[in-house]
Amino acid sequence: MKTCQIALYPGDGIGGEVLAAAVRILEHVESLSGKFHLETTMLPWGSDFYFEHGEVVPEDYLDQLRQFDAIFLGAIGDPERLPDSQTVAHLIQIRQQFNQYVCLRPVKLHPGVRSPLLNPGEIDLVVVRENSEGEYIRCGGWVKRGQPEELAVQSAIHTRSGVERILRFGFELARKRRNQLTMITKSNALVYGMVLWDDIFNEICGDYPDIDSRRQHADAAAMDFVRRPADYDVVVASNLFGDLLTDVAGVITGGLGLAASCNINPERDFPSMFEPVHGSAPDIAGKGIANPAAAILSGAMMLEWLGFDHAAELVRNGVVRALEAGETTPDLGGSLTTETMTDHILQHID
Ligand code: NAD
Ligand code: IPM
Ligand code: MN
Repeated sequence: MKTCQIALYPGDGIGGEVLAAAVRILEHVESLSGKFHLETTMLPWGSDFYFEHGEVVPEDYLDQLRQFDAIFLGAIGDPERLPDSQTVAHLIQIRQQFNQYVCLRPVKLHPGVRSPLLNPGEIDLVVVRENSEGEYIRCGGWVKRGQPEELAVQSAIHTRSGVERILRFGFELARKRRNQLTMITKSNALVYGMVLWDDIFNEICGDYPDIDSRRQHADAAAMDFVRRPADYDVVVASNLFGDLLTDVAGVITGGLGLAASCNINPERDFPSMFEPVHGSAPDIAGKGIANPAAAILSGAMMLEWLGFDHAAELVRNGVVRALEAGETTPDLGGSLTTETMTDHILQHID
């Protein structure tokens, strides 16, 4: 029996609702399998924590998190009560400080799910998002803050090593899939950072002659994610481009309620973090109708990362069968609640 230490970090809004649903599923497959135990610790951080303690996370949050084998996150953000720049900043810090430089976001149109596209085709791609630098690096500052002539500088940082490692990760992943890779660029306008991406792509694509690889500008890719999404296999993108494209990818495959994600440190020097693509959804928070599937599928990614492939497969199959049967929350046209959709998924696992 292998025991893993898991940090449960519900966060804000629907974060706690979908995480609770996902934990029910994880506990269920744990008992079915009998081969592993997930020992969970609840971290009650977020906006409520802020109003009690004056900060959204304790000062030593990174040291606390470092002890775990994995972090399972719901969602963060309470924009009605606190500015996002305050509540969400440490999420990006976790990704960067724990060198979770690969953000993997699989995108699949499942049977039974209606895409808003008329002719979606067979969508099955994965976005490999650079997760440790780029546009999200905390580099910039204010000049004359609060004065009429105030000025903000926000720099992006793209390093040769950072770009090369994410590209190679993408190429290796393509080898396990359909041998096709698209690198997202914007070197027609961002003539330093994105030209570096282009240069490195050109240098290393010769190492992968078996992969059909190409570059595409981010604006054209946003269009083609809508026009012909089935043409993509592995898509490698910088931090911000990956963020934007995965919301588009989510909505064409049934919405953010289904979109799973993980932030991984491939070397396993630090814990990796598993979370849905979606946020805290203040518009539906507290109503009990959030789709739990994105969190559940992120939980399956965590099981796989921890080495419990069979349990991960059971979870995925449960979700796929519920979707196929139309057993869904209102975002997908169903009338189930977070809890009853989870009940259905549990039954399919049995
Ligand atoms: P959002 O993802 O929370 O919501 C966008 C839309 O998708 C909303 O209409 C919402 O109802 C719907 N939606 C999202 N998840 C759903 C689910 N599981 N089931 C059904 N519908 C779902 O994005 P937003 O409104 O831009 O952001 C809200 C807050 O979340 C902000 O504070 C933002 O910064 C934060 N945020 C956090 C994360 C994260 O924690 N990883 C990700 C994105 C946004
Ligand atoms: C995501 C989210 C985050 C991001 C926000 C909350 C900082 O949108 O995980 O996609 O931009 O990475
Ligand atoms: Mn996003």
